[in-house]
Amino acid sequence: MRVAVTGRLGQIAQSLAERGPPSNIEVLTLARPAIDLTRPSDLIDVLGALRPHAVVSAAAYTAVDLAESDPELAYRTNADGAGALARAAARLQVPIVHLSTDYVFDGTLDRPYCEEDAPRPINVYGSSKLRGEQLVAAANSNHVILRTAWVYSPFGKNFARTMLSLAGSHEEISVVSDQRGAPTSALDIADGIFKVVSNLIARPQDDAIRGVFHMTGGGETNWAEFATAIFAASAANNGRFSQVRPIASSDYPTQARRSVNSRLDNTKLARFHGIRLPHWRDSMPETIARILAQDRRNYER
Ligand SMILES: NC(=O)c1ccc[n+]([C@@H]2O[C@H](COP(=O)([O-])OP(=O)(O)OC[C@H]3O[C@@H](n4cnc5c(N)ncnc54)[C@H](OP(=O)(O)O)[C@@H]3O)[C@@H](O)[C@H]2O)c1
Repeated sequence: MRVAVTGRLGQIAQSLAERGPPSNIEVLTLARPAIDLTRPSDLIDVLGALRPHAVVSAAAYTAVDLAESDPELAYRTNADGAGALARAAARLQVPIVHLSTDYVFDGTLDRPYCEEDAPRPINVYGSSKLRGEQLVAAANSNHVILRTAWVYSPFGKNFARTMLSLAGSHEEISVVSDQRGAPTSALDIADGIFKVVSNLIARPQDDAIRGVFHMTGGGETNWAEFATAIFAASAANNGRFSQVRPIASSDYPTQARRSVNSRLDNTKLARFHGIRLPHWRDSMPETIARILAQDRRNYER
């Protein structure tokens, strides 16, 4: 199986590139300048030349705060670009798996969000991703939209890496404790995406496995508790750690509003695709160990 993936340097794209080959899946990652979501006319030629069996749409404008001051670029990338990619996949007659976010919701519900709950984004990033979902669905009926949240990995920028780098210079770190969600390993997401792609290819007539699905790590927590667990895993690896001081979101103002409830209900994914990601506490130590090992190698250079 050959899968084309947008966003070569992204967390999920790099995880797909790592996890594919051991399962005999060829992963062709694409990056700018070869493909640029803001230059949609090139997409069909570049994708067509690769002859993929499926396309994974993992590139996006992910700077949640910056998007507030550059909504035009966020929409061109996350909405128009995603729609154009889905159109290109449709012309090649292959399925598209498109990554989306819990930020399509406003976070006011007091339970994990289901796919049927009404989206109501509270920031530009969330609005641009919601529009992207709509354009992807309209362009290619052979689609799965996977909403995930709180993604971390051994690659690129993410909360786990930020915490570990701050630990080097701060005895105590203030972290918000009133936003809830499930940390999700990009490596686990990659494994889940391959199962979704296999299902789409094996069951071309099955409408129940197409549409919107939620995919986050098992369990739930808040950012302060997640940071505490990261430092415990780091300490267990002889790595850096800090004390965590829980604070309220109101004490940590950001450009973009954040949802207080990022929890997603994963029942539909388990029921129709047979996928349940591991509990976040089980997946997290591997990534922390890898980040620490990378840092040690960089330090020794
Ligand atoms: N990270 C999270 O917590 C999270 C949560 C929920 C959903 N998601 C979704 O999951 C997907 C993957 O997230 P991620 O964390 O892997 O993202 P990421 O690490 O921020 O990577 C995004 C990638 O997209 C590329 N990109 C940005 N604009 C582009 C354009 N115009 N054309 C081509 N490539 C472009 C970036 O390239 P450069 O490196 O060149 O900038 C980067 O490699 C995204 O759809 C995101 O919305 C992420």
